[in-house]
Amino acid sequence: MDVREQLLILRRSWRLITVLALLGTILAGVASLLTPTSYTATTSLFVSTQNSETSAELQQGSVFALARVQSYVDVTSKPTVLQPVIDKLNLGMTPEALAAKIKASTARNTVIIDIEARDRSAQRSAEIANAVAASLITTVADLERPTNGTPTPVRLSPVDHATTPTEPSNPNVKLDLGLGLLYGLAAGIAAAVLQHVLDRNIRTETDLRKTTNLPLLAGITEQAAGRLPGAAPSVLDGTGAEAFRKLRTNLQFAGVNRPMRSIVVTSASAGEGKSTVALNLAVTVAKGGQKVILVDADLRLPSVAAATGIEGGIGLTTVLVGSTSLEDSIQYWSDDGLALLASGPLPPNPSELLGSVAMSRLLDELQTKFDLIIIDSPPILPVTDASVLTRSTDSVLLVVGTKRVSQHSLAKAIDQLNFVDAHILGVVQNRIPRRGPDANTAYIAGYGATHPESVPSVQKHDDDGSFRPAHVRRSKVVSLEST
Ligand SMILES: Nc1ncnc2c1ncn2[C@@H]1O[C@H](COP(=O)(O)OP(=O)(O)OP(=O)(O)O)[C@@H](O)[C@H]1O
Ligand SMILES: [Mg+2]
Repeated sequence: MDVREQLLILRRSWRLITVLALLGTILAGVASLLTPTSYTATTSLFVSTQNSETSAELQQGSVFALARVQSYVDVTSKPTVLQPVIDKLNLGMTPEALAAKIKASTARNTVIIDIEARDRSAQRSAEIANAVAASLITTVADLERPTNGTPTPVRLSPVDHATTPTEPSNPNVKLDLGLGLLYGLAAGIAAAVLQHVLDRNIRTETDLRKTTNLPLLAGITEQAAGRLPGAAPSVLDGTGAEAFRKLRTNLQFAGVNRPMRSIVVTSASAGEGKSTVALNLAVTVAKGGQKVILVDADLRLPSVAAATGIEGGIGLTTVLVGSTSLEDSIQYWSDDGLALLASGPLPPNPSELLGSVAMSRLLDELQTKFDLIIIDSPPILPVTDASVLTRSTDSVLLVVGTKRVSQHSLAKAIDQLNFVDAHILGVVQNRIPRRGPDANTAYIAGYGATHPESVPSVQKHDDDGSFRPAHVRRSKVVSLEST
């Protein structure tokens, strides 16, 4: 994971990290408030040997003291030392309970024993520390007393006496808050990294490149929520229209070596924006002066009729079964003469119908009438329809919905298309965020202003807030089951 990726994780997940850091701080604050106040008093003892007159004896004595000091520290928590303290101060507790309030320690290579005593009362903490020190002095003297009656060779002397502390040692609010913030931050960063590692959805061009080297022909930014009517695909303006003009140009480059007469627009999974891309590409190509027809070959979830308001009851399926003629079924839409062939009523066997001889004859006939056929289709992974369609068409445009498809699914879809020998022109990345860490500034920069060429025949907001050409009335949308 390089620095750029780490920064990307931070930018994507800064909210999560901030929330967890705040949560950690708040929890630490609450825990601090609930912690009972206690005081800590400290005293120290110095361990020395007695009767060391020559320098050799002094040297021996100091080695002896160093060797013994840790044992004295351990003895401090024993009942031999603590019981006299309990009796003297009338503490009314067991030596084990008192041991929990005491902490004896020594720094490496020193002969000083530090004794800390903690208690809810400041005064009593000092009394306990001093009493434990005094009791340890007596106990060590008893333990080290030679049996032959000579004086004890070791002496423990107080370095200082414990005084009554003025400030409580617990809770330490500042420290607790600092630790809470630190742990919260650490938890937030860990959660963000985990989320990043587990997230296999395609968000950026970098993610796309991990899966495929297909050319990225255009990037369509996410349109503002209020600008798209309901679930139906719409004609985009502004940056959206600009992106489709770029797509139109790039498709001309892609078709330089190989004439391109029919394009199947598909995607790995549902809802990535196939119909939106197919409709907008058709509108843009028509504006460019080419004769183009948009065919709704999504015979499971058609959307062209609903999006444009044309008659949906006649179309592809009625032509295929011979109940209407092709001429009567094509409907013209918008001032640019864009031709549309709706889906017609939904059949029980879409794949069969799309792979039929009648379908390839229909496409052949359309090719004689139009410069370009754009075909909206179902997604590749759930059903075979799009793969079947590639047999009678010459190219495929793959739509990738940002955050809507995993790298694995996209790779499987491309494998499937390669398996049926489809000619994939490239990828259109749809719904790229306009802002934030995943926004692709290459697409957005410079295209901010609404382009004057954008969809002149489209009335932006109808009564129901939707995009629709001024001359198409909603009442023309019919039930797809009706013919
Ligand atoms: N660039 C975009 N910005 C905002 N919304 C979008 C964009 N592209 C598509 N949508 C919305 O996403 C939804 C699905 O889009 P669309 O119908 O084009 O996808 P689809 O791949 O054809 O779906 P299905 O698999 O159901 O046929 C629609 O509501 C559409 O308005
Ligand atoms: Mg669709």
